[in-house]
Amino acid sequence: MKSNPVTNRQLRSILCLDDFELKARKFLPRPIFGYVAGAAETNASLAQNRASFQDYSFLTTTMVDVSKRSQSVTLFGKVYAAPFGIAPMGLSALMAYRGDLVLARAADRARIPMIMSGTSLIRLEDVARESLSPWFQAYLPGEEAQIIALIDRVRNAGFETLVITVDTPVQANRENNVRTGFSTPLRPTLRLAWDGISHPSWLCGTFLRTLVKHGMPHFENNYATRGAPILSPNVVRDISDRGHLTWEHMRLIRRIWQGPLVIKGILNKDDAAIACNLGVDGIIVSNHGGRQLDGSVPPLRVLSEIVDTAGQVPVMLDSGVRRGTDALKALALGAKMVFVGRPFGYAAAIAGEAGVSHAIKLLSDEIFRDMGMLGIHALDQMHPGRLVPMNELAAGIVNKAKADRGAINAVPNTNESRTFRHLDKSGIR
Ligand SMILES: Cc1cc2nc3c(=O)[nH]c(=O)nc-3n(C[C@H](O)[C@H](O)[C@H](O)COP(=O)(O)O)c2cc1C
Repeated sequence: MKSNPVTNRQLRSILCLDDFELKARKFLPRPIFGYVAGAAETNASLAQNRASFQDYSFLTTTMVDVSKRSQSVTLFGKVYAAPFGIAPMGLSALMAYRGDLVLARAADRARIPMIMSGTSLIRLEDVARESLSPWFQAYLPGEEAQIIALIDRVRNAGFETLVITVDTPVQANRENNVRTGFSTPLRPTLRLAWDGISHPSWLCGTFLRTLVKHGMPHFENNYATRGAPILSPNVVRDISDRGHLTWEHMRLIRRIWQGPLVIKGILNKDDAAIACNLGVDGIIVSNHGGRQLDGSVPPLRVLSEIVDTAGQVPVMLDSGVRRGTDALKALALGAKMVFVGRPFGYAAAIAGEAGVSHAIKLLSDEIFRDMGMLGIHALDQMHPGRLVPMNELAAGIVNKAKADRGAINAVPNTNESRTFRHLDKSGIR
């Protein structure tokens, strides 16, 4: 049975991350493609995420020896081969056969981080077993006992880095899911059946293959115990209310998780200050790819002030990164690493591990090439001075970043010297 419609040879016609979307649109049933591609309400944040990278142009330096370049990054004591990783994506195993494993294996092979989503359909233990440096993303369950049980499970499975996503206190308004007939669990209807039958490669190579080999997929990792099946006429998924969760719950997690702890979904520097103050090891500035609050600010616009607030705590970014130049702009504004979501999901869907490896190579080749043209041989040479702001907003950001980075660089890099300059404002500790 041919499981992927795109062969290795055909992959060569995919020249950039955006090219994957066109092929995935044809391959995936409409509700599944819509779930991956979609965002909230008017797609304003989705569009602005991309547009925000155009706020900056590069200032190149010439006649520099760039014959030996390295894009490696050290984070939480690990050396990664490139400054980008795979963002957590729920339901990856519905997009691609054994999707989470496909993403994890390709990431390992390329020595980049992959964050396994908590809303996944493969047991987290199976992914941890196959990963060299596994990161797990959890949504906080509603009750303290459930949080503790889930974290114990993640630790026992061998995950090293724990990412807690905090930008989903309530369900987002994803009208596109309603329009395309997507829900979790999926409801068996004539329309859904037709969506499947009219996409036979996906139906046979992904869905039926999973059913035959592994049984009906369930939400495996939202809690310490198994959740609802992905397809059911009547089961209601237990998405416990997260509306009452507060920093106290993060404090609890910090107490019980000894490894690197990363908070994902921060856009506000005051939140960053609180997170740093309670001891997180990393921050991912993200608006969830525009999938939560429509109109929430593009992460690139607030990155620099969060970097300033976080001091020595590494700050990462996702949402809208599609090009090597995007990654390098984020790095110039202080990001340590960026994460990419949708394109890796599409790549896994249409060509499995080979597709994800191809996507990783495309992005990494872009960064390598761009570094040469920028006149740098290591990523720590990216700084705000390499950017030319294209509007007033960006000019303010660059000027402040130049001043702040000067101050941060003057602080010796030791734990004691961690500077959380806005802590006084947070009112916590
Ligand atoms: C299909 C899909 C599922 C996602 N599921 C999760 C998830 O389970 N947990 C999470 O923290 N973020 C989730 N996200 C958000 C991504 O981790 C990331 O923030 C976003 O995709 C980045 O934007 P980009 O797709 O423009 O690169 C999901 C995104 C997509 C596209």
